[in-house]
Amino acid sequence: MQTLTVDLGERSYPIHIGSGLLQQNELIQAHIQGKTTAIVSNETIAPLYLDALHQTTALYNNTDIILPDGEKYKTLEIEQQIFNEMLSARCDRKSTLLALGGGVVGDMTGFAAACYQRGIHFIQVPTTLLAMVDSSVGGKTGVNHPLGKNMIGAFHQPQCVLVDIDTLDTLDDKQLSAGLAEVIKYGFINDPEFLDWLDRHMEKLLQRDKEALTYAIYHSCQHKAEIVAADEREAGQRALLNLGHTFGHAIETGMGYGEWLHGEAVAVGMVMAAELSQKMGWIKSNDVQRVKDLISKANLPTEPPKEISAEQFSQLMSIDKKVQDGVLSLVLMTSYGQSIVTSDFDQKALKAVLTR
Ligand code: NAD
Ligand code: GLY
Repeated sequence: MQTLTVDLGERSYPIHIGSGLLQQNELIQAHIQGKTTAIVSNETIAPLYLDALHQTTALYNNTDIILPDGEKYKTLEIEQQIFNEMLSARCDRKSTLLALGGGVVGDMTGFAAACYQRGIHFIQVPTTLLAMVDSSVGGKTGVNHPLGKNMIGAFHQPQCVLVDIDTLDTLDDKQLSAGLAEVIKYGFINDPEFLDWLDRHMEKLLQRDKEALTYAIYHSCQHKAEIVAADEREAGQRALLNLGHTFGHAIETGMGYGEWLHGEAVAVGMVMAAELSQKMGWIKSNDVQRVKDLISKANLPTEPPKEISAEQFSQLMSIDKKVQDGVLSLVLMTSYGQSIVTSDFDQKALKAVLTR
């Protein structure tokens, strides 16, 4: 097992990464406070991994809260189901929530923990690659609104993140690739050496080689932990983690939640960010090709859906959380393996990228 720490003073927490960790009860028990737990999962993941967490919570008064599966259920309405079941189970201020699932379960459980009786403890047990390398770390929690992705939420850090890479055995190939989009993202942000490593090991990652996966997860979490420790509330550099996300969120919202996987939308968003960077003269066409090649190698799309017009894209992007006082900032590339957050881009160049 390898352990990293997200360094946030008295709210610091460990990320444990390894094989067979769901069976090591003490790793989670060390972070449960009180006598009551509630495991939040969904109807797909529960039959696979809930038993293991029942062993962990055997000494506690535990309730299972099983949500419907899918991004389209990441809503305030389903969030209310969590609160209803917590209240019925008499969860109190000392109860601990356990999020067993991908980013949807993790974001919704974290939001429930942030709000329930003004804030209780929670533990992330991510079961998708995307959740292991990104959403379970850093304390961004929340739900979607019909008008915008992740628009309702709170910052609330977990007590612990437990990454059991064995859970990836049951994840389908499309979801694995979606997670690789967020892994690749860290390379584009500021790590060209990691991009070279990914280029050389992509086949192994797609074949689920555990050594390669562990390295990619550890390295990604290291990047995320550093950025979150430096800028927990996204006053500055944390916005870099949104590379490809403004374009991507527009695709997710525009197509209808769940039609495109989050990671697929982010993959295309990173290509669009590269294209805009090239139009600004910051990177070369050869660099854009390298971005596309690496993303394709991970079996991810590089073209946005034809259904979304340039006007729709602009309108959807104007609701992004990186719009402040009406000014949109984007994460753009200044070289292959280096990105910046900027509002200093040409609107005509953006329009050209949105017009396919
Ligand atoms: P997801 O949670 O919908 O999971 C993908 C699918 O895989 C689901 O059908 C799920 O039931 C299934 N699944 C999960 N684990 C499995 C396993 N081990 N075996 C078999 N099936 C399994 O999607 P995701 O990609 O994990 O997360 C996407 C969400 O995360 C989006 O809502 C996105 O906005 C959010 N997100 C949040 C942050 C953050 O910082 N909080 C960062 C990135 C993404
Ligand atoms: N996934 C973006 C962030 O955590 O800031």
